[in-house]
Amino acid sequence: MEFAMKILVTGGAGFIGSAVVRLAIARGHAVVNVDALTYAACLDNVASVAGSPLYAFEQADIRDGAAILAILDRHQPDAVMHLAAESHVDRSIDGPGVFIETNVMGTYQMLQAARQHWEGRGRPGTFRFHHISTDEVFGSLPHDPQVKFTEDTPYDPRSPYSASKAGSDHLVRAWHETYGLPVLLTNCSNNYGPFHFPEKLIPVIILNALAGKALPIYGDGSNIRDWLYVEDHADALLTVVEKGAVGRSYNIGGENERTNLELVRTLCEILDRKRPKASGSYADQITFVTDRPGHDARYAIDPTRIRTELGWRPSVTVEEGLERTVDWYLANESWWRALQNREGVGQRLGVKG
Ligand SMILES: NC(=O)c1ccc[n+]([C@@H]2O[C@H](COP(=O)([O-])OP(=O)(O)OC[C@H]3O[C@@H](n4cnc5c(N)ncnc54)[C@H](O)[C@@H]3O)[C@@H](O)[C@H]2O)c1
Repeated sequence: MEFAMKILVTGGAGFIGSAVVRLAIARGHAVVNVDALTYAACLDNVASVAGSPLYAFEQADIRDGAAILAILDRHQPDAVMHLAAESHVDRSIDGPGVFIETNVMGTYQMLQAARQHWEGRGRPGTFRFHHISTDEVFGSLPHDPQVKFTEDTPYDPRSPYSASKAGSDHLVRAWHETYGLPVLLTNCSNNYGPFHFPEKLIPVIILNALAGKALPIYGDGSNIRDWLYVEDHADALLTVVEKGAVGRSYNIGGENERTNLELVRTLCEILDRKRPKASGSYADQITFVTDRPGHDARYAIDPTRIRTELGWRPSVTVEEGLERTVDWYLANESWWRALQNREGVGQRLGVKG
């Protein structure tokens, strides 16, 4: 690392935010973790760094602009990395309101607080507001390997979740153009890895397999995602906050396109090796279930910009990352058992269409 920063991370008790917090501290940055501790949060995710003198925690809701401004003024960070969000597409279908409140209005409050704080400090040109977003804002791609999302792909969100993230991205760009706030924006593909909340596809498959339950595949399993190991994403995000050009957006992907069915079969092969069943394969538990309404067919990232301009590329293939992920879930049963009791986990959500 070239220089140490103080970074205010929102959503640092979640899946990706906690990976950012752990890696930032490992690299010598100071971190202020701001999180409301919703159902998706788990402070155990940052237990390995919580005793560090570089770590501070503030429980606050990003929708509370006054609280965020007070935290900014108290800690005087060099950069904000804004990850706090409602993140589960299926939940956004059943209850879109909180997605609009947190992802759109919460980001608005973050921008206003950051702007007021930054102006109060004399508008330092070194300040950064890094907004972390998703490739889902670009909509759905055809099954054609030549076509990928670039930073210039028009926005076409199709779920309440992706629409709320698209709205937040527009606000971030507007605060840069209108008020000069030094922003950075990243749009990333599907993440997986340690500490992934047990309502998302990969942990659901691992944990249902171990419990002898059905492995649910939405529709015919042909939907394609571009899978990125969460620690590679955290590395990309720190690369952007350290070296990215102000006002610029960067697409981040794993260059690991797989259909959902291929992904689940790979997980079953890994589990068959590491924790063999008394008889048969975990793949025997695969069950096809009603598709998600408006289920996007394919996401795929063209990562040329971040590779050529910032020199970042993913470090693991999806096969390597899945091996590590399965090992982590096998070794961390007490972590995921506690979260399986949380509201909505283990239920089929988002089937209203
Ligand atoms: N998971 C993915 O594959 C993926 C891919 C691309 C982008 N993203 C984006 O990355 C970010 C993090 O995603 P994740 O998967 O780690 O999410 P997550 O659901 O695991 O964690 C979200 C965190 O934000 C906190 N939070 C939620 N509402 C809050 C509020 N009102 N105030 C303060 N804190 C609040 C939660 O308590 C939780 O700790 C999100 O902005 C998401 O849109 C996720």
